[in-house]
Amino acid sequence: MTPAPQRLVVGISGASGVIYGIRILEMLRRLGVESHLVMSRAAEVTLSYESSLKVAEVHALADAWYRAEDIGAAPASGSFRTMGMIVAPCSIRTMSEIATGVTASLLTRAADVALKERRRLVLMVRETPLHTGHLRTMLQLSEMGAVIAPPVPGFYAKPTTLDEMVEHTAGRALDLFGLDCGTLRRWGE
Ligand SMILES: Cc1cc2nc3c(=O)[nH]c(=O)nc-3n(C[C@H](O)[C@H](O)[C@H](O)COP(=O)(O)O)c2cc1C
Repeated sequence: MTPAPQRLVVGISGASGVIYGIRILEMLRRLGVESHLVMSRAAEVTLSYESSLKVAEVHALADAWYRAEDIGAAPASGSFRTMGMIVAPCSIRTMSEIATGVTASLLTRAADVALKERRRLVLMVRETPLHTGHLRTMLQLSEMGAVIAPPVPGFYAKPTTLDEMVEHTAGRALDLFGLDCGTLRRWGE
């Protein structure tokens, strides 16, 4: 079979940090990677608290977007070929749903598809502090093949603005798909 198209599913759930999902969509557009977006209802709420962007403006950053209730949309099937999926940010609720396989929305179903097709699944889990149940769930997901990549900033790139911090964290998440956003300040380079 020919390699999967340059196409990534992007989930935005209702954890704090909706800006990570937004920045990743912008980066994918710059890279010419097709983005397929699913936002949870809670993500629409956090967007209203954390950003001046409207939901339609976030949708417009993606090549295609789907309602979370649309469980018959393309990313619900493994036959829809992708490089994988990133959930940015990933709430504890969404993470837990993915871990159980009892996926009630397109967002979590698409993540389940990435796992069952042995594609890359990156979860930018955002919560603090974490209780033992959260940590156990993360271990379980890691054992199932997911990459747990909490959006924890690195300071070695000497960020001077919040924007640079977000850019660095989002860029490192895309590294996990072999995508170089081109603006990362890399250690040793
Ligand atoms: C402003 C705001 C910030 C939130 N931050 C977090 C967070 O950082 N992590 C988290 O797991 N949930 C957070 N929540 C709660 C989730 O939105 C809530 O659990 C929701 O049910 C998640 O649904 P979803 O996983 O379908 O997006 C936040 C909610 C609001 C309104």
